[in-house]
Order: sequence, then structure tokens, then C-alpha cells
Amino acid sequence: MASFVASKSKNLEGSIKVPGDKSISHRSIMLGSIANGETRISGFLQGEDSLATLNAFKEMGVNIKRSGSNVIINGVGMHGLKEPLKPLDLGNSGTSIRLMAGLLSAQSFNTELTGDDSLSKRPMARVIEPLTQMGAKITGPDSKPPLSIIGGQKLSSLTYTLPVASAQIKSCLLLAGLYAEGETCIIENAVTRDHTERMLKGFGYKVNSVNGMVSLSGQGELKACNIEVPSDISSSAFFMVAASIAENADITLQAVNINPTRTGVIDILRLMGANINLQNEREEAGELVADIRVCSANLKGIEIPHSLVPLAIDEFPVIFIAASCAKGVTVLTGARELRVKESDRIQVMADGLTSLGIDNIVLEDGIEITGGQFKRQDSIIKSHHDHRISMAFAVASVRSNFEINIDDVDNVKTSFPNFVELANQIGMNINEVN
Ligand code: S3P
Repeated sequence: MASFVASKSKNLEGSIKVPGDKSISHRSIMLGSIANGETRISGFLQGEDSLATLNAFKEMGVNIKRSGSNVIINGVGMHGLKEPLKPLDLGNSGTSIRLMAGLLSAQSFNTELTGDDSLSKRPMARVIEPLTQMGAKITGPDSKPPLSIIGGQKLSSLTYTLPVASAQIKSCLLLAGLYAEGETCIIENAVTRDHTERMLKGFGYKVNSVNGMVSLSGQGELKACNIEVPSDISSSAFFMVAASIAENADITLQAVNINPTRTGVIDILRLMGANINLQNEREEAGELVADIRVCSANLKGIEIPHSLVPLAIDEFPVIFIAASCAKGVTVLTGARELRVKESDRIQVMADGLTSLGIDNIVLEDGIEITGGQFKRQDSIIKSHHDHRISMAFAVASVRSNFEINIDDVDNVKTSFPNFVELANQIGMNINEVN
């Protein structure tokens, strides 16, 4: 099991390109596989999560060739997937299992979807229940993975209000809706990432999105297209915080996806006083992209607006590090979902911050953090198999006068395989020890 030993770095500088967006990479494989024709993808994330999706579709008979971050898919059309010979292992990836649950509920064959220990603890009732309403036959012990899907069901369309702000549930149901008779309509009370809707349109499928309602009619076809995956704002967020809290920083993150359903981290950091500038804004393959320049700043504690929570849902571990270095108190509420991510991100972050001497109060749906000085840690930080916990505490080292030790960091490969290399390239001091 690898660990990080990370120590202080005063000066951060340079211009780097972080790897491709994880959400877009997953969807490019799923939609490319069921499209007609050849889809070419560049900038594909070579992380374990997106590779799990890629391998799963190969196991369902799709011809997919990958050379580094370039992928070519020979789409098999809406009904061309084949029954896999064994259960599909989706590793640590919640996005793979929830989105594929929708797509595979509509196939003519049976499938079993499995994953690692962390995935096996994550709630799936949120997709099982609405899919069952559509006519799917999908079960899991205590509504958790492994999920068993009995194929050959005729799905009917559904109008469904999301009980939690979740793009994974929305996307799962839209993918099932592609096969259902009639119009599937998803109503969301809070904005969530819209990559599925955007990409479906890129594949020539008609999707209507108005006032928090997304709908599509089933039984159409997807036409192959080329996809350029922009850099992942969730991975970029680690360096946005690192540069903000460093004594002397001026870094640029190139060609980052700034889809407005993902930019909560920029808004939150700016409210805290961060010095973040978007440059060279442009559109690439249906997604907005910009170069993001971040310089050091004196951060202050804030009350995080509820409307920004779903727009920054994956970035809270590192936002908590920003809060630890800010003057005053930062309060997050309305973020209960953080408890059912790859780990319970409220409790696991609180434990790590406490061991670094940062005062915090755990709330049922959030946390209060009082900014201060990191102290010598009294116990090794445990990532609980969660990539974003490992990387968040590595970022804390920028401002720590003591080494920070983080256990069990292999999981970083799920979303950001060259994190250490890029971090050290801009001047951070992270050692990975095996
Ligand atoms: C994702 C949606 C989010 C996010 C996850 C990726 C996606 O989950 O946390 O990392 O690609 O749709 P929820 O939609 O369940 O919040």
C-alpha cells in the first residue's frame, strides 16, 4: 500500500495540463459504444475508473482501441451489445455502476455489476427504485452492489423528480430512457452536471432541457462523433487550492472544463477571497474550456451558499483544506451527500483535520471549520480508499511546517494517475513511498 509524505512548499509556479475529465470520459465510452459508426476520443482519462468503463464495454463485444489518451470506438448501435461472459467489475467507480445500471437494464441479456469494497458499500436504491418503476428487473443485496440485472424487459418511460441532487441518477434514467417507449422526463430541484445531455446532443440525439426539466423520447439512434475531453476541473481544484494557500504562487491550469454545472469550486474559492482568473475562454466539442490562472491570496472563512453545493460536490475535501488556511470560520451545510461518496467525506476529512490540529465541528449535513495553523499530526491520515481525501491532505502540506503522512494513496490512480508528477512540477513536495 503506497503512502504520501508531503512537505512545505512556498513557491508554486508553472503552467500545466491536468488529465481529461472523468465524467466526460465515462460517457464518451458509453455513448460511443451504442452509437452507429466510429467515435474518436482524444484526452480520454487514463484513470482506473474510466478504464473500468472502457473494459466493461470491451467485455460486451465492443471493438475499442486505445493508445494512451486516444480512443477509437467502433460503435455497435443501440442493440449491438453482447452478453458479457463474466460479471463486469467496475472497481471503485460509482459513475460506471449507476450509469451502466440504466443502460444495461434495457438490454436483451443479463448482467452482473460488481466493484471494490468501497463501491460495494454505496447506495444503489436511488437507481434501483426508479429503474424498477420503468419495468427493469434489477436487484442488489440491501440495495448495494453487486447488482444483478435480468435483461429482456420492455421499459416504459418515466417522469421522475430526483430525490437528491444527483447527475448519476439523472444520467442513469436518461440512458434507460433511450430504450423506453415514450418520453422520459427528469425533474431536478437543484442543478447537477449536464454532460450526458450535452453529449447526447453531440451524438445527434434530441434532448430538451428547460427550467430544471430534462426529457428525451426513446428508441432513436446515436450517430458517432469526435470528442475532445477537456481537463477535469475536479482534478484542477487541488492545484487551485494549493496555489491559493501557498505563500508565493502563480500557476496556470490549461484548457480546463468550465461547464457552468461544475464551477462551484471557483465561485466558493472566490467568495473566500481567492485570486482566480479565467483566460482564453472557448468552446471545444460542446463544452466550455478556459485556462485558469491562480495566484496566492489571503483567504477568509465563509458560509457556503447552498446553491453552490451540487456544483462543487466532488471538490469539498480540498475546499476544507482551503477553509483550514482561511481566517475565521467556514460553514458548510446541505451537503449530506458527502457522506455517501467514495468514503464518508465529512467524517474522514474531520478526522484528518483534527489530527492536524484544525478545530472543526461535524454536522449531520456538513462541517464547521475554524482556520488555523497545521500542527504536527498526532496520527497518520487515513484515506479510507478515497482518492480525493489522499490528494486533499497532500495539498495541505503546502502550508504545513511539518511533514504530512497519508496512508493508502493507491486510490489516486482512479481519477488522477499523474497527480504527484504534476504537483511536483509546479513546486510541491510530495513523495510517494511504497
Ligand atoms: C458524477 C456525478 C456526481 C459526482 C461523481 C461523478 C457523474 O455524483 O460526485 O464523482 O459523472 O455523473 P452524484 O451525481 O451522485 O452526486
